[in-house]
Amino acid sequence: MSDTNSIDALEAEFTAAIAAAPDLSALEDLRVSALGKKGRVSGMMRGLGKMTAEERQEMGPRLNGLKTSLNEAIAARRKVLEDAALNAQLQSEALDMTRPVRLGPLETGRVHPVSQVMEELAAIFADMGFSVAEGPDIEDDHHNFEALNIPANHPARQMMDTFYLPPRADGTTMVLRTHTSPVQIRTMLSQQPPIRIIAPGRTYRSDSDQTHTPMFHQVEGLVIDTETHMGHLKGCLEDFCKAFFEVDTVKMRFRPSHFPFTEPSAEVDIGCARVGNELRIGEGDDWLEILGCGMVHPQVLRNVGYDPDVYQGFAFGVGIDRIAMLKYGMPDLRAFFDGDLRWMKHYGFKCLDVPTLAGGLSS
Ligand code: DAH
Repeated sequence: MSDTNSIDALEAEFTAAIAAAPDLSALEDLRVSALGKKGRVSGMMRGLGKMTAEERQEMGPRLNGLKTSLNEAIAARRKVLEDAALNAQLQSEALDMTRPVRLGPLETGRVHPVSQVMEELAAIFADMGFSVAEGPDIEDDHHNFEALNIPANHPARQMMDTFYLPPRADGTTMVLRTHTSPVQIRTMLSQQPPIRIIAPGRTYRSDSDQTHTPMFHQVEGLVIDTETHMGHLKGCLEDFCKAFFEVDTVKMRFRPSHFPFTEPSAEVDIGCARVGNELRIGEGDDWLEILGCGMVHPQVLRNVGYDPDVYQGFAFGVGIDRIAMLKYGMPDLRAFFDGDLRWMKHYGFKCLDVPTLAGGLSS
């Protein structure tokens, strides 16, 4: 049976509990236990039905007043708790703009010097009108040797320390390409002159010491047109060396040489000076061999169905790892392929350091 005293007591009890509710869920529990369907205030409301008219007249408004005052107390406490929760969240999620930026993968990752040099080569030769061509690492005898005027039993085959794959069912034997020159053949078979391509990529020979690794990289160059001569070859290679080594002048020496797929053939040395531990490219009294080149042999042109009386051209082949070592002062070729992160941190390039001629190749 409710009387005004018990209403006062209930009001005092709930008001105190609501004011002390530590969080929103405790407050909700209180609301349910007072005003929910089975709550104590609702219980008292149901008791009104059993009262006399006079009692009801007094208790009805009191109970309604209790309900209103508890609702108001709950709403007020909810506002306080919600504000506090929001403040706590804002505190905990605050950004300290003065803290240093944490380095992400873009900043910590490195581009391998070989990849970087390949990008440099593409930028330099694209500027001279060359496009980039590709061929497979696993080649057949025809593209790697035969079509390049290196027939079976030719001594050049022994010099190349070829990796042979197991013979196939049809009796043919594939090889890991020993140079990028087979891309010359593939390009001439699939395009028509004028041709101007470079072909960077992996090459393989069974050889391993401080300056040789079983897998290494070359870039091939090929130009075919109707009036191409040795002067174009020299000019092209001189422009390339100046751009690549980022020097204004470079001393070059063309030494007569022999390759089965070029006639005449030459090996190219560039001038250099050793100053203490440093190697200066372009000047000085020392020479460094950097590439092989020549005018494409008429037999190679015939092998791809070109008439050597109409078309001539030049070709060259450069060891990418070697020119990367020279340019960036890396002493040991084998470290290129060790996958040592400390080496990569030291010699690698940031991935946004994209080489362009306009922006400076390596700066
Ligand atoms: N293929 C030769 C090698 O691996 C390099 C070379 C020499 C390529 C002369 C050429 C060239 O295109 O004309 O040793």
